[in-house]
Amino acid sequence: MQRSAAIALLRQHVHGDALVKHCLATGAIMKAVAGPLGGDPALWEEIGLLHDIDFEQVNGDMQQHGVAGARLLKVAGIPDDLCGIIAGHNHFLHTAPYETPVEISLQAADSASGLIMACALVKGGRLSDVSVKTITKKAKEKSFAAGCDRNRIALIGGLMEIPVFYGHALAGLMEIRTELGLE
Ligand SMILES: [Fe+2]
Repeated sequence: MQRSAAIALLRQHVHGDALVKHCLATGAIMKAVAGPLGGDPALWEEIGLLHDIDFEQVNGDMQQHGVAGARLLKVAGIPDDLCGIIAGHNHFLHTAPYETPVEISLQAADSASGLIMACALVKGGRLSDVSVKTITKKAKEKSFAAGCDRNRIALIGGLMEIPVFYGHALAGLMEIRTELGLE
């Protein structure tokens, strides 16, 4: 699926601006880490873009989140393997360890997207002023962007050094910073 088609599908189900931006950002990070981890950047971006497509529909019901998304994506013609990855990304339901690079990256990208965008907001919305050092420092402050689970980011440490991951993630977000409302 083309990026534009994935975003159009996302916008059919997600209306909140913050959630759309979260999905765009998660997609951008997935795209950025795919190459270094031997994945397909376009496919990994699609997974990131669509991973929370059901979030408004389930309205906070974490017993449904992911499963409902996979169901509606299947109807939209998304391949079963992608639907399975999206269903499994809800770590409240998925209690087994994440094993594949794409699943692990989705955990890290899902959490790091919010952390890095929060770093940009404290810099007056200038993502260009955020460095790996900024992100590393802010990640250590537990109260900063507290909803961004550092343990889920740490999972990618088995695949690449965390500062290297932050570097890729930042580069990915920089590519779409105007879509995120950042400079
Ligand atoms: Fe998410």
